[in-house]
Amino acid sequence: MTTLVKNRVEVMHGVNLNQLARRDPAHYGNLDLAALERQIESWALEIGLSVRFFQTNHEGDFVEHLHEVMDLADGIILNPGAWTHYSWAIHDALELVKLPAIEVHLSSVTEREEWRQRSVVRDLCAATVSGKGVDGYREALTLLKKELSDEHTR
Ligand code: DQA
Repeated sequence: MTTLVKNRVEVMHGVNLNQLARRDPAHYGNLDLAALERQIESWALEIGLSVRFFQTNHEGDFVEHLHEVMDLADGIILNPGAWTHYSWAIHDALELVKLPAIEVHLSSVTEREEWRQRSVVRDLCAATVSGKGVDGYREALTLLKKELSDEHTR
C-alpha cells in the first residue's frame, strides 16, 4: 500500500510584510523578508516539509492565490498582516480552500493596540502563533506537520 505524503506548505505573507526590514524592530525583529523565508525553508527541510512562498500588498491577489493554492498545497501558514484584523474576503477565501492552516504573527498582536486583537481568520486556523518573532514560524511548521500527519489517521 502506498501512503500519500502530505508535505506541501504554502507560506503566505500579506500586506507590508515585504517591508519587514524597515518596520519597527521592537515588534518585527531585524530580518528582511528574504532572510525570513530562507530561515523558514531550512526549518521546513529539517522536518520534511516542502515550502513555497507568496507575498502581496493587494488583497484581491491574496484572495486569488488562496483559490489557486487548493491544488498546489496540503496546508497553509499565513500572516495576512493588517488584513488579519478586518478582511472578511480573506476569511471567506480561506474557508472555501478547506486546507489546514496556521496563523502567524511576528509581534504579540494580543498585547498591542485594541484593533489588532481581533483576527477574522483565527476561527479557520488550527492554531495561532503570535509574539514569538521568527521562531513563531518554526512552531507553525511543527504544528502544521502534526495536522498533516493526523489527517492520515483520521
Ligand atoms: C503582523 C501584525 C499585524 O497587526 C500587522 O498589521 C502586521 C504584521 C505581525 O506579523 O505581527 O503587518 O501580522
